[in-house]
Amino acid sequence: MTGAVVTALRALLGDGGVLTERHDVARYETGWRYGSGRAFAVALPATPQQVADVLRACAEHGVRVQPLGANTGLVGASNPDATGEQLVLSLERLNATIDVDPIDAVAVVDAGVLLSQLQAALEPHGLWFPIDLGADPQIGGMVVTNTGGTRLLRYGDVRRNLLGIEVALPDGTLVERLQRLRKNNTGLDFKQLFVGTSGAYGVVTRATLQLGPLPRQRATAFVAAGDGQAVLDLLASLTRAVGDVLTAFEVISHDALEITLRRGHNLRTPFRGELPAYAALVELASTFGPERLDLQAALEEALVAHAEGDPRGGIVDVLIGDGEDFWAIRHQITESVREEGRVLAFDVAVPRARLAEFTEAVRAALAQAYPFVRLCDYGHWGDGGSHLNLVWDRSAAPADEASFWSALQTLVYDLCVHGFDGSFSAEHGVGPHNHAFYRRYVPAPVQRAARALKEHFDPQRRLSHRYPD
Ligand code: MLT
Ligand code: ZN
Repeated sequence: MTGAVVTALRALLGDGGVLTERHDVARYETGWRYGSGRAFAVALPATPQQVADVLRACAEHGVRVQPLGANTGLVGASNPDATGEQLVLSLERLNATIDVDPIDAVAVVDAGVLLSQLQAALEPHGLWFPIDLGADPQIGGMVVTNTGGTRLLRYGDVRRNLLGIEVALPDGTLVERLQRLRKNNTGLDFKQLFVGTSGAYGVVTRATLQLGPLPRQRATAFVAAGDGQAVLDLLASLTRAVGDVLTAFEVISHDALEITLRRGHNLRTPFRGELPAYAALVELASTFGPERLDLQAALEEALVAHAEGDPRGGIVDVLIGDGEDFWAIRHQITESVREEGRVLAFDVAVPRARLAEFTEAVRAALAQAYPFVRLCDYGHWGDGGSHLNLVWDRSAAPADEASFWSALQTLVYDLCVHGFDGSFSAEHGVGPHNHAFYRRYVPAPVQRAARALKEHFDPQRRLSHRYPD
């Protein structure tokens, strides 16, 4: 079966478009953080029609397909399973088109274009795609994950910035809905079925993206706070004072900060003396130049007014400095914490007003049940998102690591979803890493609807892992 499909794929894509050697295939099999499996080959289509043709050939030969973007996903959703029976469909050669219209302020982009490539192409037009993150994913991967990132607070997620889509369905049909319309109330919003659904219904081949004007200035500060509630008071105050231009409100706890400053590369600490319980990275941005609008002064003024008027006295220090230095710290947290020991990472959200209370509840529950686990939390508090990273020394933990992980996951997710009306996956999506919790928390009628769509698009279950089954 696999031999026949490889022959068919070679006829479609040429010899260079199909990889079968173990050493070539291996680099497509393991996820950046979670997920590792085995594929019998990798197909590398270079046009949308070729993607559809690959899917049709796989359908004809009864072969299951695992689409893969830049492999920056964090829940294992883009890696093959362990059977060795899947074909990896890599989008990396589908990256020729970035068609920019500066008047519409949209770009039609091939799914395999990297975010960094897109931003570089938009810069000469004074435009950007306002989703920003440390990793460099492909656009198609961003669509199926509904990527959030560090500036969601101001610009929204992919869903909010997507105008059109082209998708190859599992039977090989190519559906082109690359409309450039900002208004289109004509019933079902087809493109949204493919956003944040982990590629379960089809392979995105192109997307029409809404663009924003590239900011001409940014002002950045680190604000040291005595506790989480002080961080939330600051957020409320900044929303009132400078909410129009508030583009990021990222928060880093003491332990995440301590590890990152110790392990990170070429980082300059802005903190004087002891590290605070929490630090908030605050950013304002505007298309006005500094001669028209002094953002730095506006930020300093708002921070000083808040610190002086704050009855709880929760602000410990305000550090104004080089934004690049501050963002370098923020973007090195994940890797730094990963080097510290065994790590279980969470990507959760709660109503943002409850972030401090939620985090303390997790801290207390861990201290009671697993005192050897260190909570290194950080994340996008401006939009209610928190990355709780649990770190421990392997020698201190129970020998059965799989059960221990699952106990930790249940503890944190139950508190989040049931105790705080939160989400078990705020921005990383659903994949093998958290699939069991999709089953546990997503209401049955919602799961039934997602399964009915799977039945419609992919009755033979050719695409993706178990979600939404
Ligand atoms: C981030 O915001 O840095 C990432 O989404 C966190 C992660 O890698 O878990
Ligand atoms: Zn994040």
